[in-house]
Amino acid sequence: MKWGCFCYCSPVDEDKEQPSVIKVSNSTKEHQWEVYSLKELLQATNNFHEDHKIGEGGFGSVYWGRTSKGDEIAVKRLKAVTMKAEMEFAVEVEILGRVRHKNLLGLRGFYVGGDERLIVYNFMPNHSLITHLHGHLAADVLLDWPRRMNIVLGSAEGLVYLHHEANPHIIHRDIKASNVLLDAKFEAKVADFGFAKLIPEGVSHVTTRVKGTLGYLAPEYAMWGKVSESCDVYSFGILLLEIISGKKPLEKLPGGIKRDIIQWVTPYVEKANYNDIVDPRLKGNFNKEELKNAVEIALRCTAKPEKRPSMIEVVDRLKNGIISTHKKEVMQVKDCLDVSEDQYTIEDYEDEEEDEDTDYERFQSRAKRNWDELKIRY
Ligand SMILES: Nc1ncnc2c1ncn2[C@@H]1O[C@H](COP(=O)(O)OP(=O)(O)O)[C@@H](O)[C@H]1O
Ligand SMILES: [Mg+2]
Repeated sequence: MKWGCFCYCSPVDEDKEQPSVIKVSNSTKEHQWEVYSLKELLQATNNFHEDHKIGEGGFGSVYWGRTSKGDEIAVKRLKAVTMKAEMEFAVEVEILGRVRHKNLLGLRGFYVGGDERLIVYNFMPNHSLITHLHGHLAADVLLDWPRRMNIVLGSAEGLVYLHHEANPHIIHRDIKASNVLLDAKFEAKVADFGFAKLIPEGVSHVTTRVKGTLGYLAPEYAMWGKVSESCDVYSFGILLLEIISGKKPLEKLPGGIKRDIIQWVTPYVEKANYNDIVDPRLKGNFNKEELKNAVEIALRCTAKPEKRPSMIEVVDRLKNGIISTHKKEVMQVKDCLDVSEDQYTIEDYEDEEEDEDTDYERFQSRAKRNWDELKIRY
């Protein structure tokens, strides 16, 4: 294992503004990461043994491991070195190499060689938020109200760093429950920077191909690929409602009709019936003021782009409990896509289709119809 400086030539991406040469400097002490040897990572993960697998995503699999020094690590392994996967790897390594914040999963190291692309992180013993909300730990109810609010605040602070403190600014583009990991103290660590974008100073938004996850996508981004910090704000608003309610961002109702979490929450808010929004697993143990404030913030985050707060404002409101005096704006965001899996990414969707372009166009036009409906209502 050695300390190093990494210069990685990535393949051409359809998103032109993404850099094609990745340079990650490792000069300052607090930004240190390691270039691991393949041998060390094979030993740590017992040759990427199935029993060590802790996660699966679009990129590949994530394995638990223990280094020769005894540290627990998580190793993300690219499943195939395709151009798209290699770009995600390069983007994640570049961005993680730049960031350092208590609420962001930092880069511990990586390995590049032959057909192997590996990213090494600190192991997060309490898994991802999705495991607690909808996965195998949901029944244990380890996330009480204070923990939930602390995770919300931590995730928001991680986003403040990305949007306002990192230089250039970073838009995550895939904020969702499976990308928020929890450390031993249940502190939030925002993870998975494979779709992230660097935004040069003075640029308000960039237009890109749509990546992300259904149910969390801001409508203007889903339709026109317009990406700015406010797209992350929107996804954060959805995540906030998900954390409060324990509901999934998209729900399939009997008869196959789909309902998003905004549509679900709206009638409760209109009747000021906040208590029924809370996850019933909490058995009524929550703070009413915090709840009202959090729902209010979530609705503001999912309003029209120009009405959304910045993440600085969100953190301020979460900390100070200031309830907005603005008129409540409840947006009925319809399903943009007709798919059955709520954890489906647009990328996955494209991969499954033979005629990717045609289907993408169909998606865009359906999303546009929904947007037009919205505009008529407001
Ligand atoms: N550092 C880690 N500690 C514990 N689990 C992790 C860690 N990194 C990833 N995981 C698990 O692996 C899953 C996929 O990781 P992620 O970085 O989101 O990759 P992908 O790009 O494939 O979605 C996460 O949802 C989580 O369950
Ligand atoms: Mg992920």
